[in-house]
Amino acid sequence: MKALVLAGGHGTRLRPLTFTGNKHMLPIANQPILHYALKSLAAAGIRDVGIILGPIQEGIGETIGDGSAFGLRVEYIRQGEPKGLAHAVLCAREFLGNEPFLMHLGDNLLQSGVQQFLHRFESRRPDAVVGATPVAHPEHYGVVELDGERILSIEEKPLLPKSHLALIGVYLFTDAIHDVIEHLAPSRRGELEITEAIWQLCRRGKEVSVLEVRGWWKDTGHPDDLLEANELVLGSLPTEEFRLQGSIEPGAIVEGHVAVGPGSVIERGARILGPTVLGAGVRVSGDSVVGPNTAIGNRVSLHRARVRRSIIMDGARIEGVALANSLIGRNVEIRSARPQAGEAIVTLGDSARISL
Ligand code: G1P
Repeated sequence: MKALVLAGGHGTRLRPLTFTGNKHMLPIANQPILHYALKSLAAAGIRDVGIILGPIQEGIGETIGDGSAFGLRVEYIRQGEPKGLAHAVLCAREFLGNEPFLMHLGDNLLQSGVQQFLHRFESRRPDAVVGATPVAHPEHYGVVELDGERILSIEEKPLLPKSHLALIGVYLFTDAIHDVIEHLAPSRRGELEITEAIWQLCRRGKEVSVLEVRGWWKDTGHPDDLLEANELVLGSLPTEEFRLQGSIEPGAIVEGHVAVGPGSVIERGARILGPTVLGAGVRVSGDSVVGPNTAIGNRVSLHRARVRRSIIMDGARIEGVALANSLIGRNVEIRSARPQAGEAIVTLGDSARISL
């Protein structure tokens, strides 16, 4: 079975993120978000993946290439104008042929992976399998209303949701979806909505099987979601992923599940509390405390700093401040000569500089 992975530009909305490049390349536990979908597909035995590219493509081709590092054969498909998720399927029509396919939104993380979609498809042979999970705020998602296994309604981001079951961004379709999409009208926001296409499948009497996914699921469209996803991923990484490379000086403390990349130095007096990952070439000094639930990218320097439940991206330099629940972009500099009262919660885009 082939798969489509959507790497941005599929919708017309701009998310409130101030980071440069493609938002699917932002790091979760020091790996680009998009890589998780690719690994999950590879783990389920998928080989051929079409990555749908929107207008912002930076970093995608460079880190993924032909997909061989993931055990995949990757083709890139340009969507041109971002006109919705169903429009992305339309753009991939030639790549997909008439075979069933999996579709994975590039900003979605699913703890239990995509294998369960294949099992459901093989055991019941429906026309589509859609994943769903209960959420606190269904109005932000596609929402499915069920009576037992029967679908009563499916709506995209309804103001008054009829249930708490959100559609997650992983779908399995047979070729029945293509004819529906060819006849789909744009929604009020001008997109060809995949949610509407799924509803049309139901209305045509096709069998759409709703799979309640196990474990956690995260759509990483907003800064808070990134921090939560970071915490969830760090909390469920296998122990062998936490390797201590670099140098941990005598008098430095490392507690719990901690990864330290090559060339990094944890100086005497510094404390790293797991689960936390540090990339390569990081320096932690001046009695800094890092973690828990924190991901520090490559070449970051932390001096007299306290950082917990945060993502600090490559090249950032942080000195003399305490940060919690913060998202710090690449090459950001934050310095304070005087001690700060309490922890700051900060979201800073790439290359920002602050002196306190
Ligand atoms: C898309 C879908 C929505 C789904 C969500 C899951 O929304 O349109 O139905 O619930 O992905 O991540 P978007 O995140 O593109 O607004």
